[in-house]
Amino acid sequence: MTPWLTVVGIGEEGFKGLGKVARRALLGASRIVGAQRQLDLLPLCIRGQRELWPSPFSLEPLLARQGEPVCVLASGDPMFYGVGASLAKQVPSDQMLVIPAPSSCSLAAARMGWPLQDVVTLSLVARPLAALNVHLSTGVRLLLLSNDRHSPAAVATLLRERGFGPSTMTVLEHLGGAAERRIDGCAAQWSDDTVADLNLIAIECRAEPSTPRLSRLAGLPDTAFEHDGQLTKRDVRAITLARLAPMPGELLWDVGAGSGSIGIEWMRAHPSCRALAIEADEGRQGLIERNRDTLGVPGLQLIRGKAPQALENLERPDAVFIGGGVTREGVLEACWAQLKPGGRLVANAVTLQSETALMHWRERHGGELTRIHIAQAQPLGEFDTWRQALPITLLDLVKPLDA
Ligand SMILES: C[S@@+](CC[C@H](N)C(=O)[O-])C[C@H]1O[C@@H](n2cnc3c(N)ncnc32)[C@H](O)[C@@H]1O
Repeated sequence: MTPWLTVVGIGEEGFKGLGKVARRALLGASRIVGAQRQLDLLPLCIRGQRELWPSPFSLEPLLARQGEPVCVLASGDPMFYGVGASLAKQVPSDQMLVIPAPSSCSLAAARMGWPLQDVVTLSLVARPLAALNVHLSTGVRLLLLSNDRHSPAAVATLLRERGFGPSTMTVLEHLGGAAERRIDGCAAQWSDDTVADLNLIAIECRAEPSTPRLSRLAGLPDTAFEHDGQLTKRDVRAITLARLAPMPGELLWDVGAGSGSIGIEWMRAHPSCRALAIEADEGRQGLIERNRDTLGVPGLQLIRGKAPQALENLERPDAVFIGGGVTREGVLEACWAQLKPGGRLVANAVTLQSETALMHWRERHGGELTRIHIAQAQPLGEFDTWRQALPITLLDLVKPLDA
């Protein structure tokens, strides 16, 4: 099948910056779809009908033209946070030809002298700024696609609030065009508010000496979370996450999520990990919302309600963690029924009643029971002694593939 759809990546230089194949595709198209800014870059010799994307944005009218020679204009590399990536979900690759121009990040890496493979790229276009928090660590280089002219000031404020004021910041406007401009500064002193809407931010992270180290490995300090005492403590959390074993793209249900620590650490493990935090208590729902933003995973979805009722109609999980509520009728059953074959279930118990529930569950379904005793050295008079935390019983089992 020959492609009916051609997606042309166009830079700030416009038509004159395009290669032969892209020019030929535009000259032969009966229809060209794009944003006003991109359509304005076309010369008069392009005779195809020009069409703006519908508002609100939709691909439907374009997809309805299947078979017609249509060109879509996109900025830079259409497959990098661009319309090409959205189209590729709906149009088979043998029906679509993508002709990329250098992406804004390629141009930025060239200007900064940063090897692109060593840089973290992130888009703030219609996405929460809080997603930045997970990446903040001294020495990390970030290229951020801005939402608009206000993004650099908002990013500088966030960096200061998170203890990264000494980070260097460079704003690169209209890369690759005649209006290209560069503004250098540092987050602590950032004040430039006259920035073009089309801009990209290059950051080299540097923490203040007092900024806490927040590793991506599970087992963040308890002080990293806002909580009401009902927090799965650091060492138990690390063991629990190791058993939940997050893999790219997987979905976790964090049932009775408390302050959300398990779901949050699950999502910090990999950018494509997703989590649903199911929590009935309003106060704790607030904790989850604040913790997910502070720790850089604003995409964690809060389900307000009590299990098992709140579990109805949720997307089936790859793994389930039950931190509280194993004694509630139907909770274990509902989680087990919805867990995908091959998925993991991990449940923690502190009371005799919840431990009994886990033992009965293991009798029916197998799995491994582990008892965790953690003790910490603390002062006793002028000496030290071991202070024992409440022991935790952890059940860990895998749902059979044929279940
Ligand atoms: C929807 S993304 C598209 C990215 C594009 N596909 C690419 O390859 O760079 C739009 C964002 O990319 C960045 N961007 C795109 N072109 C740019 C340019 N010429 N100069 C600076 N930033 C640019 C801006 O941050 C803008 O908000």
